Amino acid sequence: MDFVTLHEVGPRDGLQNEPGVISTADRVEFVRALAEAGLPHIEVGSFVSPKWVPQMAGTDEVMAKLEAGPVYEVLVPNMRGWEGFAAAERRGDYAIAVFVAATEGFSRANLNCTVAESLERAAPVIAAAEAAGVPVRGYVSCVTDCPYEGRVAPGQVARVVRDLKDLGVREVSLGETIGKGDPERVGTMLDAVLNVVPAAQLAGHFHDTGGRALDNIKVALEKGLRVFDAAVGGLGGCPYAPGAPGNVATEAVVALLHAQGFETGVDAAKLAKAAGMARAMRGGGHVDQG
Ligand code: HMG
Ligand code: MG
Repeated sequence: MDFVTLHEVGPRDGLQNEPGVISTADRVEFVRALAEAGLPHIEVGSFVSPKWVPQMAGTDEVMAKLEAGPVYEVLVPNMRGWEGFAAAERRGDYAIAVFVAATEGFSRANLNCTVAESLERAAPVIAAAEAAGVPVRGYVSCVTDCPYEGRVAPGQVARVVRDLKDLGVREVSLGETIGKGDPERVGTMLDAVLNVVPAAQLAGHFHDTGGRALDNIKVALEKGLRVFDAAVGGLGGCPYAPGAPGNVATEAVVALLHAQGFETGVDAAKLAKAAGMARAMRGGGHVDQG
């Protein structure tokens, strides 16, 4: 049976967009519940400026408390972030993710630099990580729409995906950052990207603002993609993408995939428990650790 690999991004993409700052203890319990549910990859935080994203401060403290199990992932925007990651206490397998955008407007808002500069900053991070045996994933944001520039040309996305791949990332996750894409435009974008990078090295990262994320995932499955990012409970968004609440919910993606006959290794009942934790955190509440 065909296997689809899920990357759970709730503890990062979800919590970074919550108005409140969640405690380290609650972040750790949340990640543990996700690992218990069988998610093979879990993005647990970011080594970014705490002035820009205070919700992700203390990612090193979260890492220090986690047990080996899934592959944990963290965002790293520059060498300063790499040094923070490399110095952090950790057990088990880790990968890092660098992130760039298909548009200048989003790059400026998210990373305070041009797309070309963001690729230049990513290059030494990728080299350092791979030299240290840490696999690197790359994100490209705004693959169909940009909050600052509107619709994005598929050729422009394909160019940045190829540039990032050329720097040595193992997989590129295609960020549909503000959930405005529809299946037709997602399909056209994927056709352009598949001309430069094979499906086996791509992932889909769909936000569900417009309610089309599951339809967009279906198109990506038809095009051969077998890796998707999702956030349990539909947590998330991006603080620098106005109007981007809600990653596609992991439990909805798992239900879709299982109904289509794909295996994920995820236990839907245990995932429901993690979704309950996500809902409690969304309200700014405390996670029941029982
Ligand atoms: P900058 O201001 O251009 O950089 O920020 P700088 O080098 O001038 O540094 C400014 C300050 O940040 C300095 O501190 C540095 O020390 C500090 P100060 O002197 O003001 O006290 N600094 C750092 N601190 C901690 N960790 C670091 C680091 N680097 C510099 N690594 C920077 C550049 C990248 C830091 C900033 O723009 C930033 O942190 N941006 C946040 C980006 C972010 O996390 N965005 C959300 C994640 S991306 C996303 O959600 C999209 C995705 O989900 C896919 C999709 O949906 O499309 C992945
Ligand atoms: Mg995102």
